[in-house]
Amino acid sequence: MKNIFNQIIWQFNFSTSDQLKAITKAAGKKRIILGTSESESKFIGLKEAVCLTQKDNLFLNLDHGKDLKYIKKAIDIGYDMVHFDGSSLGFKENIKKTQEIVDYAHKKKVLVEGEIDPISSKMTDPKKALLFLKETGIDSLAIAIGNKHGKEKVKIDFSRIKEIKELTNLPLVLHGGSGVSNDDLRKAIKNGISKININTELRMIWKESFKKSLKKKSVKPYELLSKGQEGIEKKVKEYLSIV
Ligand code: 13P
Repeated sequence: MKNIFNQIIWQFNFSTSDQLKAITKAAGKKRIILGTSESESKFIGLKEAVCLTQKDNLFLNLDHGKDLKYIKKAIDIGYDMVHFDGSSLGFKENIKKTQEIVDYAHKKKVLVEGEIDPISSKMTDPKKALLFLKETGIDSLAIAIGNKHGKEKVKIDFSRIKEIKELTNLPLVLHGGSGVSNDDLRKAIKNGISKININTELRMIWKESFKKSLKKKSVKPYELLSKGQEGIEKKVKEYLSIV
């Protein structure tokens, strides 16, 4: 199984090929994870997402997968990692379904990210995280530590990251990277975060530049989308320079 957690790794989400091109251009040869939620992957296509990310430094993750059948399909088609988000289920049910995905994924050398508590509404209990790891054999864990998806300012519980890390020694994932300041991202890494997920920030750059482009007379997609690509590339480079 590929060890992608021996250094800090960023996940950038995409649903269109122009976003993907901007992200991969910014990354160059650096190792990054490309994420697609179920909806994002349905838009670009599971097979298409796999075909477009065939480079040694790129890893493709199904982000916040909830439908077991769909997650298995992504694994069969060639995703490198899957995130099973069972956070809305009861703890026992979450363990059972996560186990099922881990068994399926590990046979195909695919990594699994688990999730216990819904990000933004609860805080992850370190002891519960350890129990979840023991029961499921997950490869990484998305943790709830005050983070939220989107651009809203958040207050991160850094000591909780440290506690979960010390107890589980799992690669820990910070979802909702867009709302976290660069200083706090650095601090989160210092306390034990291994993977940071970014989506909203790049979507906003895409939308703003597309809105501006629509004022042009051009009907050529490659002209209308090129500014957005430049903006996304710049932002991804900025993130990658944080660590
Ligand atoms: P943001 O949209 O807040 O960057 O979060 C992305 C994310 O966590 C994807 O799973």
